[in-house]
Amino acid sequence: MAAENRLYLAAHPVAYPLMRLLARFGPVVRVPGLGVVVNDAATAREVLTDERFRKDGPGSPGDLWTPVLGPSVLLNMEGEGHTALRRRLAPLFAPAQVEALVAEVLEGPLGDLSARLSRGETVDLVDEMRLMAGAVICRLVGMREVSARDARALFADGERVVSMVSLRSRRLSDRQVAVARRVLDRVGAVAAAAYDEGDESTVMGRMRALGLSAAEARGAAAAFFLTGTETVATFVPRLVALLDDAGVRVEGPQELDRAIDEALRITTPTPVMLRSVAAPARVGRVRVRPGDRVLIVTHNCARAHGPFDPAAKHPPELRRLWFGAGPHFCVGYPLAMAEIRAVAGAVLAHRPRVAGRKAARGVLIPTYRHLWITCG
Ligand code: HEM
Repeated sequence: MAAENRLYLAAHPVAYPLMRLLARFGPVVRVPGLGVVVNDAATAREVLTDERFRKDGPGSPGDLWTPVLGPSVLLNMEGEGHTALRRRLAPLFAPAQVEALVAEVLEGPLGDLSARLSRGETVDLVDEMRLMAGAVICRLVGMREVSARDARALFADGERVVSMVSLRSRRLSDRQVAVARRVLDRVGAVAAAAYDEGDESTVMGRMRALGLSAAEARGAAAAFFLTGTETVATFVPRLVALLDDAGVRVEGPQELDRAIDEALRITTPTPVMLRSVAAPARVGRVRVRPGDRVLIVTHNCARAHGPFDPAAKHPPELRRLWFGAGPHFCVGYPLAMAEIRAVAGAVLAHRPRVAGRKAARGVLIPTYRHLWITCG
C-alpha cells in the first residue's frame, strides 16, 4: 500500500493529496470549480446506473474526447445508439474469443519472459508489459504480424495521448487535439485497412461483418487503443509488487482471480469517472442541476474498504466498480482479465521477487517506470 501511495504521489503530487483529503468530507461533496465529488461506492453505483448522468454533456468525457475521436465511440455516447453499438461489439469481447486472441499474441512474448526468469535474469516487468499490452491492441486494431518494435511504438503513442489529460482537464487545447489526431490517425489507418480487407478472422473484419460502418469501426479501434493499453499494462507490475510487498503467494486460478480483484480495488487503474448532469437530481444528499459535473472518485470509493487483503470478500456495492457499472461498464473487461490472468499467471508461477523499482512521473495512470523482478 505504501508503494502504491508513492506511485499516486509521483504521478499527481498536488491532485492526489487533495483527492484523498476530499474523502474525509463524506460520501458526496460539492467542490467549487471541480464539481460534485462522490467518494462512496453505493452512491457511485446509483449515479452510474441513472440515465440523468451522462457521458455526452458539458464537463463529461465527451468534451475531452469527441474532438479527437468523433461523436460515436461508446465512451461519449448515450441512449439507443450506445446500446445498439455495445450489442454489436459484445461478441468481439466474448471470453472464449479474447482468450484465444491473447493466447495467440502472447505465446511468443510469454515464452521468452518465462525463459529469462528461469535463467535467473532480472527482468523489467514494466517494459515487458508495454510490449505485451501493445501487441494485443495492435492485433485487436488489425495488425496481422506484430513486431516488438510496432508494439512498443504503439504503446508510446497511446501514452502520449493519454498523458495530455490531467485529473482536472475539461478540454484538450487545439494543439493537443491536433497531436492526438495525428497519433490516432496511424491507428485508424491500420484499422481501416483491416476493415477494407474484411477478413472475419480479424476484429476489424468482424466489425464489418456485424454491420458497423468504416467510421464506426475506426472510432471503436481508436477508443480501444486509448482505453485498453495503458490500463492493463500499468496494472500487472503493480499487482506483482503488491503481492511481493504483502508477502502473499498465489496458488491456482481461484486465488489468482481473488488477488487480481483485490489489487484492482487498491490500484483503481481508472481512478475517476466523469458524468454530466442532464436533469435535476440528487447525488446522495446534494442537489444537482443540468450542466453540473459529477466526479466519481473510484479510488476513494474503493480505498474506503481497508488495506490490501486478497482473503477479504468485496461487498456487493463494490463489485468490480473499478470497471464501472451500468450501461458504460468496461466493454473490454473480458479482454483485460484474459491478458492479466495470462501474464500474471505465467510470471507468478516463477515465484519472483521484486529486485528494484522506480515510480513514473508525469503520467495520468500511476505506475512504475521500472519494476525489476528476478527469481535468482
Ligand atoms: C485493467 C484494465 C481496465 C480497467 C481498470 C478499465 C476500466 C474502465 C472503466 C472504469 C470504464 C467505465 C468508465 C465510465 O463509466 O466512465 C471503462 C470503459 C471502457 N473500457 Fe475499460 N478498462 C480496462 C481495460 C480495457 C480494455 C482492455 C479495453 C478494450 C480494448 C477497454 C475498453 C473500454 C471501452 C471502449 C470503454 C467505454 C465503454 C462505454 O462507454 O460503453 N478497457 N473501462
